[in-house]
Order: sequence, then C-alpha cells, then structure tokens
Amino acid sequence: MSDRTPGEVVRSVTSAFERTFGGAPTGVWSAPGRVNLIGEHTDYNGGLCLPIALPRRTYAAAARRDDGVLRIASVQQDGVVEVALDDVSPELPGGWGSYVAGVLWSLRRDGLSVDGLDVLVDSTVPLGAGLSSSAALECAVAAAASDLFDLDLLGSPEGRERLAARCVEAENVIAGAPTGGMDQSASLLCEDAAALLLDCRSGETRHVPFDLDAAGHVLLVTDTRAEHALVDGQYAARRDACEQAARELGIETLREIDPAGLDAALERLGSDEVRRRVRHVVTEIERVTLAVAALESDDLEEIGRLFDASHASLRDDYEVSCEELDLATATARSEGALGARMTGGGFGGSCIAIVSAADAEAVATAIATAFRGEGLTAPVSFTVTASGPAARDS
Ligand code: GLA
Repeated sequence: MSDRTPGEVVRSVTSAFERTFGGAPTGVWSAPGRVNLIGEHTDYNGGLCLPIALPRRTYAAAARRDDGVLRIASVQQDGVVEVALDDVSPELPGGWGSYVAGVLWSLRRDGLSVDGLDVLVDSTVPLGAGLSSSAALECAVAAAASDLFDLDLLGSPEGRERLAARCVEAENVIAGAPTGGMDQSASLLCEDAAALLLDCRSGETRHVPFDLDAAGHVLLVTDTRAEHALVDGQYAARRDACEQAARELGIETLREIDPAGLDAALERLGSDEVRRRVRHVVTEIERVTLAVAALESDDLEEIGRLFDASHASLRDDYEVSCEELDLATATARSEGALGARMTGGGFGGSCIAIVSAADAEAVATAIATAFRGEGLTAPVSFTVTASGPAARDS
C-alpha cells in the first residue's frame, strides 16, 4: 500500500473510476493524512497545535454530474454508495460515504453552488491508524468540488480555511464525530518541510520550518494497530469534561486559563478527574509554544523532552493512551529516541518518535520485538517528512 508512488495511485484510481462509472474522470485530487507533532486535545479548547501533513494521501478521481446525485466508490471498499444530495443526513448515506456526502452537503449549506459527483477513492493513508484518513478523504473531495464547481477555494489561504470549516462540519454533523478541526486544517493548509502552528482560538496559522533530515534525524511513526474500541464515546467524554470545566470557571474555553494561574483555576473545580483533564490541556498548550521556540532554535533535545512530557500528560492526566502506545513510546526512548509520544486522539493509533537516522531501523525493530514479547499485534513503523497540502494531481 505505502510503496506505491503518487503517479501509480493516480493511474490506478483513474482506471478504477473508468471501470466503475464507465467514463473518464475530469481529474484526480488528493489530500494528506497528518501527524500532530504536539498540542493534543487542545483544538476543541481554543488552544494551539502543531501538525505536519504526511506524504501519504487519499486520492479522489471525480467528475461532476448535473442531476444532484452522488455516487461514491473506493478501491478499499466493495460496492457503490449512491445518494441524492437533497437526502444527505446523519443517517444517509451512513458509513464511510458520509464523509464524502457530508462535504457536499456542507458546501451547499454554506451557500455554494454544488451539484452531484461521481467519485472513486484510493488511499495510502492507513485506515484507523490515527493518521486522519477521514480528514484526508474529506479534504480530497472538497478540493475536487472546489475545482469541478468553479468555487475557486484552493487558490488562497482564506479559501482553504473555508473548505476546512466545511470538512469539519461534515465530520461533526453528517459523520457524527465531534472532532475539533486540527486534522482538516492540516490537510488543507500544511506546507512541505514545515509544521503548521494553528491557533484554534483566533484561527491564525503560521508555518514553522520542520526538517529533521538536516540534523541527521527522522520522525518515526509507529502504527500500533491497537483497536480503537470505544473511541467515539471516550473522545466525546473528554470534550464534554473540558466544556463542563470551562462553564464551571465562567470562561469560554480552557485557552483562557493563564498557565501561571493554573493552580488557582484547578482549586475552583469540583472533581479530581476534571482537574487532571484541565491540567493536561493548559500544560499542553504551553508545550506547543515551547516546541515552536525549540524548533526555531534547532534544539531537538528540548523537543524530545517536550514529546515525553506530552505523552506522560496524555497518559496520566488525560487518560487517552493505551498499553500499545505506552510500550511503543517507552521502547523508542530506551533505544535512544530523543523523545516519543502518542499522536492524534489516542486509545490506539500511532506514536511518533524523533530518532537519529542511523538508529531508525533498530528502533522500529525493537518496538516490534517488544510487541511480540507481550503477544500484541505486530506494529508497522515508517518514517515521514512534512509534506504538502490538498491539491489537484491530474
Ligand atoms: C483527533 C481529532 C482532532 C484532535 C485530536 C486530538 O485527531 O480529529 O480534532 O482533537 O484527535 O488532538
């Protein structure tokens, strides 16, 4: 899956489109998955996060229709999903097709003139690995719709932000996942060799150079293959706890808590569990600011320390880690990684580690050996570089 070049995927998704829909697509668009370097569970708290886009992308071969019908198929799924745009709802079409249909539904709700589509999807983003395969799918479809319906939203940062907002609404309302928006912004706004500093309160963004190669290091991603049982309910529960805490404190979002006033704010909260959730969010937002400063002064050791502190906070205070993520990060550290942490929502999914290029293979092997020793499913490790955003490929 991952070994295919972009050109190969474009060719194969084009011929799959022709086989399925009996004509040529107008073009192929793609959008990347992401890893978040740091700033986890901060986006829905008006906080800061720092994702990069992955070289792994979801591709959508598409052609417009003029009858209000959406037909969707995927190389990774059987069958064709068909739905009239007027009928799209949280119930229809349901399943993975709701991520595609939801984007068109949301673009229309935003007053944009959008008709039906035929869409054939293929992806090199591993599914269910916490690398935002769903945001990559939404953003690839949004990019296709922008070009096919002359919305002209890909050409400017403002247009891309508008597309990201539509993709978030699709995911929240039609797919029913109460996620915070980081993933869609990453997929539409990230640039090559840079991380995206995203301020989720003001909406401001800044590109921060991120190129570990120059320092002889790599970012090693390990998909733990851990199942995301209960992920939706647990994610929503964390979000609810934060919103409840903000209400108790009489503030709009937890971003308003000054780190210097954290202890005083915590004393005003009723439960120990909520106090720990809030402590994670406030300290994590601060770690993002520190990580940006460290990146700008090429202080990789400090970034490693911040990765480790972030993981401990997510494990102990936010309680979204799991055995596999703890084992992978601990093994990476003991094999010489500068730092390691879970990335994404947690409860399974992937971890990231900064390791010297020379050690990457040994670290990946050590993680696999540790998993075997515990009788866990074999993990999959690979290195990634910060890559470009959603775009037209052909
Ligand atoms: C998931 C969500 C994001 C974000 C992360 C945690 O990836 O989609 O919005 O909340 O979890 O940082």
